[in-house]
Amino acid sequence: MSFSDKSNSRFKLFSLLAEAGSSVVSSSALTEKLGMSRQAVFKLVGALREEGLDIESIPQKGYALKNMDKTDALSPTLIDYLLRDNEMFSKCVYIAEIDSTQQILKKLAAQDAPEGIVATAGRQTHGRGRRGRLWLSPYGKNLYFSALLRPKLAPGDVQLLNLAAGIAVRSVLKELHGVAAEMKWPNDILANGRKICGILSEAAGEPDRVYYAITGIGVNVNLRREDLSGETVETATSILIETGKTTPRPFLLAQIYSRFSALASLLREEEGKVKLLTLYRENCATLGREVRVTDDNRVFVGTAKGITEQGALIVNADGRDKIFAAADVHHLRQID
Ligand code: BTN
Repeated sequence: MSFSDKSNSRFKLFSLLAEAGSSVVSSSALTEKLGMSRQAVFKLVGALREEGLDIESIPQKGYALKNMDKTDALSPTLIDYLLRDNEMFSKCVYIAEIDSTQQILKKLAAQDAPEGIVATAGRQTHGRGRRGRLWLSPYGKNLYFSALLRPKLAPGDVQLLNLAAGIAVRSVLKELHGVAAEMKWPNDILANGRKICGILSEAAGEPDRVYYAITGIGVNVNLRREDLSGETVETATSILIETGKTTPRPFLLAQIYSRFSALASLLREEEGKVKLLTLYRENCATLGREVRVTDDNRVFVGTAKGITEQGALIVNADGRDKIFAAADVHHLRQID
């Protein structure tokens, strides 16, 4: 597991190089600013390279950071740097292979880790989806990340975090990456009817208090059509498949957290919750549609009419309103 810490020398060295753009920073400037020997700087540069960063050594001169904006490696130091102004999410843990990023954060949460830790992985061996499903998590193609939150929410309101994450991902994919992204209740993000992102929020607490919530996000980023097999050929898509463009994953992660933190911080106030729900209702493609809802093996077909104050879906079926806190929804046709 590699853990970056903003107060450490690795982060400071990276920041000095990043702030110089791709220009050379002299070894003497680095040794002076970091208060360490040339040998120690050399070692730190090696550690940054091991994270996948492209740092050039220029003999007798110094070091230069190359191709930062094209970096796809999930370098925790780069991610911390990109999150440096984020008030909620700020510290990244990277694990090359793990069962699930949700699990590592559960362990850290139980050890009293603070809000704002982000765990990301190269691949997940047991990526977890909603309702006990598996989440396809091949190495190096996609983003799998979870964040630890300690929200002052009643347990019944945790779903609102889920909705906030959905709005954040959809807006980043649509506005910054040109994906025709739609949000299906509660927070599946679809493009051309296929899934491009899934979100899972899990919480622990008492009946009246949440100790922590973990919001996990999986985005299909640079997955190619030929990487898909079985039913995912029909059901999944990626940013690359939709737009033909590869996306450097650390930057996408930081964009999502920038929007997610702004939306999640709305939940600190009652008025903010109302704003978030209004935004969600405006952004959710499920509303106004005919839907098929599967809940514990029971199937209902009806019209999605609304979202309750706790983020549950209201469906009018057979002339009666039914409220679903959690269920699988399938979009049928748009009702005009
Ligand atoms: C779903 O749509 O079913 C939710 C999928 C959530 C997947 C993400 S990937 C990162 C985090 N770790 C997991 O094991 N699951 C979530």
